[in-house]
Amino acid sequence: MSLNALNAQYGIPGFIEFKEEESGFTFAYIKNCYGEAEISLYGGQVTHFQLLGDEPILWMSPLSQFIPGRAIRGGIPVCWPWFGPHPNESSLPQHGIARISNWSVVETCLLEGEQVRVILRCDQHKIDQLAKWKGVELELSITLGKELKLDLCTRNRRCEAIMVGGALHTYFRIEDIHHVIVQGLEATHYLDKLDKYKRKFQETGVVFTGETDREYLDTKSDCILKDKLTSRTLKVSKEGSATTVLWNPWQANSEKMADFPDDGFRHMVCIEAAITANDVQIISPGENHILSQSIALI
Ligand code: BG6
Repeated sequence: MSLNALNAQYGIPGFIEFKEEESGFTFAYIKNCYGEAEISLYGGQVTHFQLLGDEPILWMSPLSQFIPGRAIRGGIPVCWPWFGPHPNESSLPQHGIARISNWSVVETCLLEGEQVRVILRCDQHKIDQLAKWKGVELELSITLGKELKLDLCTRNRRCEAIMVGGALHTYFRIEDIHHVIVQGLEATHYLDKLDKYKRKFQETGVVFTGETDREYLDTKSDCILKDKLTSRTLKVSKEGSATTVLWNPWQANSEKMADFPDDGFRHMVCIEAAITANDVQIISPGENHILSQSIALI
């Protein structure tokens, strides 16, 4: 759909405008009395979220490459229909196909209290190339209100049950990783991906002292991210997910990634609402699964 047609059909003057950037990628720019957000139609990826009078909440890599076929680094990538490497086909992309697919707009609306909603659908041709997920539909609803809420809906239109993994892989912008704490995962178990997926116990709030890549099991409660240097506290809530992933690549891995500044690890932490590990979803024919994440300042 052309930019003019997009704006004519789905733009809402003063609230939603579609623009094409130099990269050739189209973005939805949203604003209302609560704040602003930007969504790339490539990847169905929120790349910016800021509440009025406050600093940006999401981290975006200044070296992110906006190139079709590659993932955008930062914001809220959508991992789907598997999380991490494909379990048995190494030629398939890490974290699935949603973040490297085009998404189209299916609806935009202004809700009560001036909340703004954009609903996107992942390219069906791209999904249909995956034999096991052919015909499955994927929609993402993004609502900007007092908080930012994402609802990722998988609809099983097939005649048999499907297995779906994934995550809303949110990159939070922080002042310094050495001075943040994530609360809400106390007294839970996690799989440590950096130690052969060993099952370990999380006693206290999580602080970061090195590379971190963990899947916290049976975790449904809110995570509280406290950035001590800015005194900013975020509440990250979720539904339809019992696994929370925490990721920070630390220095050596930041240096290895072309789309990541060498000191990028200092300023980001990922808190991901995931369906992976023992939480991969089996969706019966005709049924849906909704994976949601909400982000609020407290
Ligand atoms: C995390 C995974 O969710 O994403 C890590 O747990 C992975 O293992 C990280 O390294 C980043 O993945 P990618 O493909 O975006 O570089």
